[in-house]
Amino acid sequence: MTEPEPPSVAALSLSETATTEPKGASEQEINPWDVQAATDDQGNVLAFDYEAISKKWATNLIDKALLERFERVTGHKPHRWLRRGLFFSHRDLDRILDTYERGEDFLLYTGRGPSSGSMHIGHTIPFEFTKWLQDVFDVPLVIMLTDDEKALFKESLTFEDTLKFAYENAKDIIALGFDLKKTFIYSDIKFYGSGGAGHFVTNALEFSKLITFNQVRGAFGFDASTNTGRIFFPSFQCVAAFGSSYPFIWGEDPQSDTRFAKLAAIPCLIPCAIDQDPYFRLVRDNANRMRFPSPKPALIHSKFLTALQGAGGKMSASNPNSAIYMSDSEKQIKNKINKHAFSGGQETLELHRELGGNPDIDVPYQYLTYFEDDDEKLQGFYDAYKKGDMLTGEMKKECVDVMIAYVRKFQEARSKVTDEILAEYMKIRKLEWKGNPHPTKPKNTETKAEGETKPAEGLSKNAAKKAAKLEELRKKKEAAAAAAAAAGKS
Ligand code: TRP
Repeated sequence: MTEPEPPSVAALSLSETATTEPKGASEQEINPWDVQAATDDQGNVLAFDYEAISKKWATNLIDKALLERFERVTGHKPHRWLRRGLFFSHRDLDRILDTYERGEDFLLYTGRGPSSGSMHIGHTIPFEFTKWLQDVFDVPLVIMLTDDEKALFKESLTFEDTLKFAYENAKDIIALGFDLKKTFIYSDIKFYGSGGAGHFVTNALEFSKLITFNQVRGAFGFDASTNTGRIFFPSFQCVAAFGSSYPFIWGEDPQSDTRFAKLAAIPCLIPCAIDQDPYFRLVRDNANRMRFPSPKPALIHSKFLTALQGAGGKMSASNPNSAIYMSDSEKQIKNKINKHAFSGGQETLELHRELGGNPDIDVPYQYLTYFEDDDEKLQGFYDAYKKGDMLTGEMKKECVDVMIAYVRKFQEARSKVTDEILAEYMKIRKLEWKGNPHPTKPKNTETKAEGETKPAEGLSKNAAKKAAKLEELRKKKEAAAAAAAAAGKS
């Protein structure tokens, strides 16, 4: 890419905002249920250190070479959230590009824990990114709404509460424009009991049999007084990455007595925030131990979105002024940005003109990096702000305009999402997609001779052979059963 590169998003350090008593330094804490930024020895909240977490968990940082390959292989300029490092880390994304080059299918999988009925921009951005990936690759997508997880992990929420939130959230997600033909959205609570999830549940049971309490305790920090639902739940979130959990997507019968080895072998790509990585390390470590083995799912990780109060802060449902909600009115958006967005500007106009502002910690500027697609325009704001030519009020005005346009467009789309449309997306059905129209590499034919199973990348040769054999056995059994049934009839 030759465009000037605007500074990456959320590279902030925020000691300026501290108002709390000295508390002593603490390290950042990142796990699926608790995300806390580090504090310095004064108790000041610091920015997240994403390189540190990537290093600690041994993920790969997304670099220029990978983005260049992405563009070559897909023919699409990388999304601004990739260019600007909001999605900053991955596991095996290069393998997904290999799969796409060969014109082979993969499954996109993402999800959300429905902990409240309304979503803010921190929730919609990952979904918009997933939609972009789906448009680029033209592949099937499953969206898992973990209403079971949220009720298990939050004492105050009932399963009825979270199911209701799941429906509300699903409507918001649909409003982002997902293609119905290629997208299956499900509430865990409803799906498990639907009759379509037999293979999903069998996968979860088998997966849970492979995982010891020690393993989940290590990954998630459970102890002996953790409720047992929480201990089982990771198996659900893990097997949701297996194609064999959704046979209907490929037109196969979810009521069949045996799962489909060929579907298990389909690769999967999971866009998620970095805090979800512990789940997926678990599935990556154990996927090929399944009776119908799956390749390690690939991951693409995002940073956390900056709260209005600045880096290290959290967009939170309990503080409406911490985030722009998709249901906010224009007046609320204006008010939130003008009154509550942390500014990197100087105290007075004179000082600002003289010294310039700091766009790196300026939240209105950060939000512009999320939504202003024009790299040059953004760079212009950055430079002008730093020089003091652009004032805080002017930056805020740009931000307000962009945010209002984004939320208004969303609200128009959301108002058209009826219960009937929601039901269509959540229906168990075959999906339709085209994949890569111009594959540049031959398909993987290693095990063609043993049946139609194609080994997926990430599946060892032995595992692929095993998958092919099992698939053949399954077919024979089904044929025999059909023959027996036919014989019984005549
Ligand atoms: N556990 C996630 C949450 O609480 C929801 C989720 C399930 C998810 N599967 C996922 C998120 C896959 C990202 C990717 O929000």
